[in-house]
Amino acid sequence: MGPNKLSKNKPFSTLPLFILSLTLILVIFRSLRSENEVGSKTTDFSTSVSYPEWYRAIAHELSPKKIRIGLVNVHNKTANDIALELMHGGEAEIVKVDFDHVDNDRVKWSNLFPEWINEDNPDKQKCPEIPMPRFEDYGELDVVVANVTCPVGGEKGMGIRDVFRLQVNLVVANLLVSSRLEYLEDKMKYVVFLGGSCGPMGEIFRCDDLFLDDGGWSIYRPDLRRLKQKVLMPVGTCQLARPFSESGQEGWRRYTFNNALYQSREAYVTVLHSSEAYVCGAIALAQSIIQSNSTKDLVLLADDHISTKSLQGLKAAGWKIKRIKRIRSPQATKDAYNEWNYSKLRIFQLTEYDKVIFIDSDFIVLRNLDDFFVYPQLSAVGNNEHIFNSGLMLVEPSECTFQTLMRKRFAVTSYNGGDQGFLNEVFTWWHRWPGRLNFLKFFGDSFSLMRPKIPVNLYTIHYLGVKPWMCYKDYDCNWDSLGFQKFASDLAHEKWWQVYEAMPQKLRPYCELTPKMDAKIKKWRGKAKSVSLPDRHWKIKVKDPRMHTAHLMK
Ligand SMILES: *[C@@H]1O[C@H](CO)[C@@H](O)[C@H](O)[C@H]1NC(C)=O
Ligand SMILES: *[C@@H]1O[C@H](CO)[C@@H](O)[C@H](O)[C@H]1NC(C)=O
Ligand SMILES: *[C@@H]1O[C@H](CO)[C@@H](O)[C@H](O)[C@H]1NC(C)=O
Ligand SMILES: *[C@@H]1O[C@H](CO)[C@@H](O)[C@H](O)[C@H]1NC(C)=O
Repeated sequence: MGPNKLSKNKPFSTLPLFILSLTLILVIFRSLRSENEVGSKTTDFSTSVSYPEWYRAIAHELSPKKIRIGLVNVHNKTANDIALELMHGGEAEIVKVDFDHVDNDRVKWSNLFPEWINEDNPDKQKCPEIPMPRFEDYGELDVVVANVTCPVGGEKGMGIRDVFRLQVNLVVANLLVSSRLEYLEDKMKYVVFLGGSCGPMGEIFRCDDLFLDDGGWSIYRPDLRRLKQKVLMPVGTCQLARPFSESGQEGWRRYTFNNALYQSREAYVTVLHSSEAYVCGAIALAQSIIQSNSTKDLVLLADDHISTKSLQGLKAAGWKIKRIKRIRSPQATKDAYNEWNYSKLRIFQLTEYDKVIFIDSDFIVLRNLDDFFVYPQLSAVGNNEHIFNSGLMLVEPSECTFQTLMRKRFAVTSYNGGDQGFLNEVFTWWHRWPGRLNFLKFFGDSFSLMRPKIPVNLYTIHYLGVKPWMCYKDYDCNWDSLGFQKFASDLAHEKWWQVYEAMPQKLRPYCELTPKMDAKIKKWRGKAKSVSLPDRHWKIKVKDPRMHTAHLMK
C-alpha cells in the first residue's frame, strides 16, 4: 500500500504548480494584449470618439443594452454635440424632452407658497399649473441630462425661490419615476446635472444620492421610491400635503422604502441646550406624547448645560438621552436669546432614524401624530408669508445634509438669527401640514378680553409667550402684562396642566417654580393690579401650591 501511495502522489504534487504558472502566463499575455486592443465589448474610450466625461463615469454602470438618454433644458448646440458623440457607436438613443417653460412672471413663488390656504376645504385649493412634458412620449429613460439654471443675481444670503428652476427639477424627477412603482424596484437610473448649470435642488435630489461630483457637473443615482413620493407632493404649499391613502390609493409608506418588510425607524425629537429653563417643558411634552399612545421612540438631545439630575427626570419621563455639543448661530449677538439656536440642526445627525418629527419643548401633544411620519422631508406648518414654523417639522436625518447645513450657515442669512430663518432659506420647497399640527397660542395684537375658544381637534398646542410652567397653575400669567396678552389663553393653559396632573408624582419636582420666576409673576401681578387691568386675572386668589414651596428652594 505504501509504495503505491507514493507513486500516485508524485504527479498530483506538481500539478498545482503547473496550473499556477500557466495562469500567470495567461494573465501577463492578456494584459499585454489589452493595452493595444481596441473595440472590445465594453465602451471604447479611445481618442477616435470623444465621449462626454459624465458618460465615461457611468457607462460601465449601465446595462449592456442600448441606453436611453433624455435631455432636459439642454440647448440645441449642446444637445447635438451629445448626440453626435454618443450615437456614433450606436450605444445610446438620445431624446430631447419637450415642455412649455413656465413663465416666471405669470407664476410667482408666492402663488406656489401662499401665506394662507383654506384648510377646511382642501379640495377647493388649487395650485398654479406647472407645465410638464407628455411623459408617455418618452418611455423608460436610463439617464436624464439636465441643465438647471438659477436666476441671475438673486438676493445675497437668501435661498433660491425660482419657479423655472423648480419646474426643471420636477421635470427631471418625474421623467425618472414616470413608470409604475413596481417597475422602479431595483432600477438604476442616473441624472447628470451639466456643468454651468446651478445644479439640483437639494430638497428633491438628496445629497445622499450623489454618485459623482466633478465640481462642474454632478451625477446622482436617486432612490427612486423616495423620489416618487416627492413628485406626488403638491408643487407648493398652495395645497395641503395629503397622504396618498386619503385619495383611495395605497399608503405612502411603500414609497419610502424599497423593502416592504422594512420597518421604518422613526422618532420624536426635542433639543435642550444652554439652560434648564425648558426641562419641565420637555418632561410634559414626553408625557403628552406617551398619553397620545404613540409607538415611536422619544429622543432628547441635551448639551452639557443640562444637569445629571435633570437628565434623570427626562429619562424617567420617557426620553432617550443623547449628549450634543451646542452650535452657535453665526448671526446672533453674544448672550442673545437665540445665540445657540443652531443646536437644533443636530437632529440631522440622528442617522439611526429614517425620519424624525422634531418638536420644541414648549409644545404638548393632544392627539396621536404617528401617521404623519409617512410624509417626506421637509413637512411643517406655515408660519407667515412663504415660511414654515420650525417648532414642529419632519426631517430625514442624513450626515451629508448636516454637513451641507454646517457649510451654509455662514453664507445664509437668517431673518430672525435663529434656526427657523436659516432652515427656511435652505429648504425653500417644503410641504404644508394642517395648522392643527402646530397650533400657535397667539391671538393677534388687538386687545380683547374675548378669547376665541381654542379649536377642537388640535394635534398640539405651541405655548408662545410665558410658558405654563413659569406661571401659576390658576391662570395664564400672560394676562398680567399688556405686551403679552396676545399670548394669553386660560383654556390652553389648562390643557398643559392636565398633562402635568396625569404625570407620575416623582416628575413634578422638575416643574417647581424657582424663586426668581415666582418673584417675576408677583411683580407682574402687582403692576396689573396697580393699573387695574380689566381682565382682572390679578384678582384671582392663587391656589397653586408651587407658589408656597417656592421660598424653600435655592
Ligand atoms: C441652460 O439653459 C440656459 C437658459 O435656460 C441656456 O441659456 C443655456 O445655454 C443652457 N445651457 C446648456 C448647456 O444647454
Ligand atoms: C432646436 O431644435 C428644434 C428641432 O430639433 C427646433 O424646433 C428648435 O426651434 C431649436 N431651437 C433653437 C433655439 O434653435
Ligand atoms: C390611548 O389608549 C387608551 C387605551 O386604549 C385610550 O383610552 C385613550 O383614549 C387613548 N388616548 C388617545 C389620546 O388616543
Ligand atoms: C431659540 O432658543 C431659545 C431657547 O431654547 C427659545 O426660547 C427661542 O424661541 C429660540 N428662538 C428662535 C428664533 O428659534
